[in-house]
This record gives sequence, C-alpha cells and structure tokens, in this order.
Amino acid sequence: MSWNDYFEKIKNRPVRALLLNALKEVSNEMPKTAIELGSGPGVDTLHLLNYGWTVTAVEKESEGIKILKNNLTADQSSRLSVIESEFEKLTSLPTASLIYAALSLPFCKSEAFPEFWKVIEASFAKECVFAANFFGPEDEWVKNGHCTGHSESQIREMLKSFPIFKISEDKGMGKTAIGPDKFWHVYHIIAKR
Ligand SMILES: C[S@@+](CC[C@H](N)C(=O)[O-])C[C@H]1O[C@@H](n2cnc3c(N)ncnc32)[C@H](O)[C@@H]1O
Repeated sequence: MSWNDYFEKIKNRPVRALLLNALKEVSNEMPKTAIELGSGPGVDTLHLLNYGWTVTAVEKESEGIKILKNNLTADQSSRLSVIESEFEKLTSLPTASLIYAALSLPFCKSEAFPEFWKVIEASFAKECVFAANFFGPEDEWVKNGHCTGHSESQIREMLKSFPIFKISEDKGMGKTAIGPDKFWHVYHIIAKR
C-alpha cells in the first residue's frame, strides 16, 4: 500500500471523534495554537483552521500536504505552517496548546521514538491538551514489527504531568482503509494539564 492511495481513500472522511472530543477539553484561555502530527491529507487540520486555530501540520508525504493546501482560503493559509519531515528527523516543534496525532505516532520507528517524544514534550504549553492514538502490544502491525507499540503503563508514564488523563481501548479484527482486515489494538488518549 502507498500513503497516497490511503490519502485518496480518506480525504473526504468526517473529522475524527478523537479531535472533536479533545476540543471539548480546550479552555477559552488557551491560545488557539495546535500541532497535528502526521496530518495526511489534512482533514482534521482543516477543521482546526475552520475554527480559527493556527496550526502546524507535520507530514512526511508531499502529496498529503498538497491535498491540504489545495483546500485552503488565503486566511486559512496564513494560519497554517507545514513541516514536511519524518518524525525521526524532527529536532524541534513550536509550543502549542493542542497537540494532536491520529493514528500516526505508531509509524515512528521504535528506536527513534524516545527522542521524538522529547521533541513532542518540549512543544507542550504549560496548559495544553494532548490527544493521540497509540497502538498496543497486541496490534498486528506492532507484532509484525511494522509499527511501534506502547503499553498502557508506558503511555501513563509518558503523560504523568497531565492530571486529566482519559484512555479508551479498541481491540479486535477490523478493516483497514486499504488492504486486508487486521487485528487492531488501539488506545485513544486525551490528556490535559
Ligand atoms: C494512518 S495515517 C493518519 C493520517 C491522519 N492523521 C488521519 O487520521 O487520517 C498516518 C500518517 O502519518 C504519516 N507518517 C507515517 N510515518 C511517518 C513518519 N515517520 N514521519 C512523519 N509522518 C509519518 C503518514 O504519511 C500518514 O499521513
């Protein structure tokens, strides 16, 4: 499968519930600055731009960025920064009130993840919301070495500075956007401090 096929398939999908639920945690006092990690074709970044956010979208695939940019008004473009990079090569990110990563962090190589996590941590504003998916150890793509997995206790440890921590878990056979069904083990995390 290629990411471009995936983008074509999902570019008109609805905004993810993870983002909509994360936005409910954002307080009015927080500056509307967000980072989306692994923005793909930018469906969720566009939603944030529509609601007045200034967004830094991180994505390694130029095709995803192209699809996002094609959809923007001049005002939206003025509030979007794009970092076209692999997670593994990032050394810094801007500070943000909302750090959002839907189904993307597991694609960072496991040996690079600890350094990438330090870069993410450095982007957390004092008051912020972090919303992301992690794959658990039972996920088929973790088991076959294609993705990086984290246990619930590892995730809790990474986010120990967040007093509000909501976690839910999906486990079972399910569809992929393209390709055969797989065994999913996914954590949905929303944390706030
Ligand atoms: C499963 S898609 C999710 C896309 C989008 N967040 C969504 O929810 O539809 C994973 C995204 O992460 C990007 N990605 C995968 N590995 C990456 C890496 N090592 N560095 C940066 N982006 C990566 C892919 O190009 C893709 O856009």
